[in-house]
Amino acid sequence: MPHRSLIAAFVSAQLLLSGAAFAQAAPPLTRDNGAAVGDNQNSQTAGADGPVLLQDVHLIQKLQRFDRERIPERVVHARGTGAHGSFVVTGDISRYTRAKVFQPGTTTPVFVRFSTVIHGNHSPETLRDPRGFATKFYTSEGNWDLVGNNLPVFFIRDAIKFPDMVHSLKPSPDTNVQDPARVFDFFSHVPEATQMLTRVYSDYGTPRSYREMDGNGVHAYKLVDDQGGYVYVKFHWDSRQGEHNLSGAQIASVQGRDFNHLSNDLMKAIERGDYPKWDLYVQILKPDQLDQFAFNPLDATKVWTGVPEVKVGTMTLDRNPANIFQETEQAAFAPANLVPGIEPSEDRLLQGRMFSYADTQLYRVGTNVNQLPINAPKVAVNSNNQDGEHNSGARTGKVNYEPSRIQPKPQSDAARYSALPLSGATQQARIAKTLNFRQAGEFYRSLSADERKSLIANLAGDLGQVRDETTMYTMLSYFHKADADYGTRLAQALKRDVAKVKSLSDALSD
Ligand code: HEM
Repeated sequence: MPHRSLIAAFVSAQLLLSGAAFAQAAPPLTRDNGAAVGDNQNSQTAGADGPVLLQDVHLIQKLQRFDRERIPERVVHARGTGAHGSFVVTGDISRYTRAKVFQPGTTTPVFVRFSTVIHGNHSPETLRDPRGFATKFYTSEGNWDLVGNNLPVFFIRDAIKFPDMVHSLKPSPDTNVQDPARVFDFFSHVPEATQMLTRVYSDYGTPRSYREMDGNGVHAYKLVDDQGGYVYVKFHWDSRQGEHNLSGAQIASVQGRDFNHLSNDLMKAIERGDYPKWDLYVQILKPDQLDQFAFNPLDATKVWTGVPEVKVGTMTLDRNPANIFQETEQAAFAPANLVPGIEPSEDRLLQGRMFSYADTQLYRVGTNVNQLPINAPKVAVNSNNQDGEHNSGARTGKVNYEPSRIQPKPQSDAARYSALPLSGATQQARIAKTLNFRQAGEFYRSLSADERKSLIANLAGDLGQVRDETTMYTMLSYFHKADADYGTRLAQALKRDVAKVKSLSDALSD
């Protein structure tokens, strides 16, 4: 054999050997019942020219599973990105709460999902929106979910308005295109949205990255001590990376280059070991302080101006999901996931959220959503809830009820809800202290000259698409009521009658 052929024969023998070794080491392709697949490239046919056979169960299962890959996307916040990490308590608020997650020195694993709100999964992350900032704390007493946003207030204060608001913000049912005329048609009836609209149309509505964004619980929650005493708190995640946003002009250039800039930035930062951190702060009010403000502190359209922040701890995100569907998409955050020592306040918006998330997740993900690894608590579950689709629970034995002498399931006084004193009759009425405009003006005046310019341009862009003059002037009067300079500049940008806007604004009460 000539020298060259000898080498070739040796090399191909080596390749054959390493190929065989590789084939041995790599796990074989199987069907979902674990049985090995013979051929994943050619369907079974009746001879060379005949049709495909029904007995090709591998082909059939492959197509069936593919046909069912999608679950309904979240009705809001469909586009998101998640990361794992931990939360370490460095401050001491233990006198206010019995929750173990807040005891000094405690470290708790977390999963966070950041999101946009209105458009579907895979929509551009450059679009103007509030951003979701949802954190699941896998505490030693069960899971606690803090489901917040980057902005500190919300559009509405009563859950009964939420489905209508979302319908107006979503693409129009007759064109499938988002339409500012519909959005402002709705919001011209909702003066309490003025502060949130001002924040969303400022550059805070287009953050530069998720890392450079604060988070807010928005609502008041209650922290409950071991005597059942409680205080009201608002939670705030303060980004250690600082807050940085994109102006209208910057968005246009980012959009052209990378409309997934928020997901890419977070994943790449974690990949290179540049782990983002947020400090958690609480503002605290005693029950008898609630009446001391011009606004109602349990109104989600308000910030707690002048109430100091107390630092509680720091969260670090240091691991990307290995499987986006199983972690980020199947993750089910719910305000109803609370632990002893943390309770909802009487905030009417929060009360609706207590129901809505846990309900939608039974439909979006399935009955046993909370048994999935991303949602399962790290502590044992010992409830009598049973059966239903996808049940992989480990309950055994004959006692699936309570009370029982055969197998008691004791309850603990330490996990009792706090008691709220009440008086009066049931009612359907708006809250007494609305203060719809003042804080929007305070926010406007806190912006720099450039930020105000950006806000006017962003807002005039969308408001300019409104054709109904009553809607247009009503919206302008709200912004004018918040701040005369703000309303005047907007009216001028939209070439409307400033004197008319002023007189409509004068007729409004806060
Ligand atoms: C009554 C008012 C509200 C209702 C009824 C409501 C309802 C919902 C629903 C049904 C979902 C989808 C949940 C899922 O499929 O897993 C969702 C997601 C979300 N909502 Fe709300 N929402 C309300 C207000 C708010 C407010 C005030 C905030 C912020 C403080 C907020 C933040 C979020 C976030 C961050 C998500 C996405 C969670 C995730 O990443 O999975 N929502 N909301």
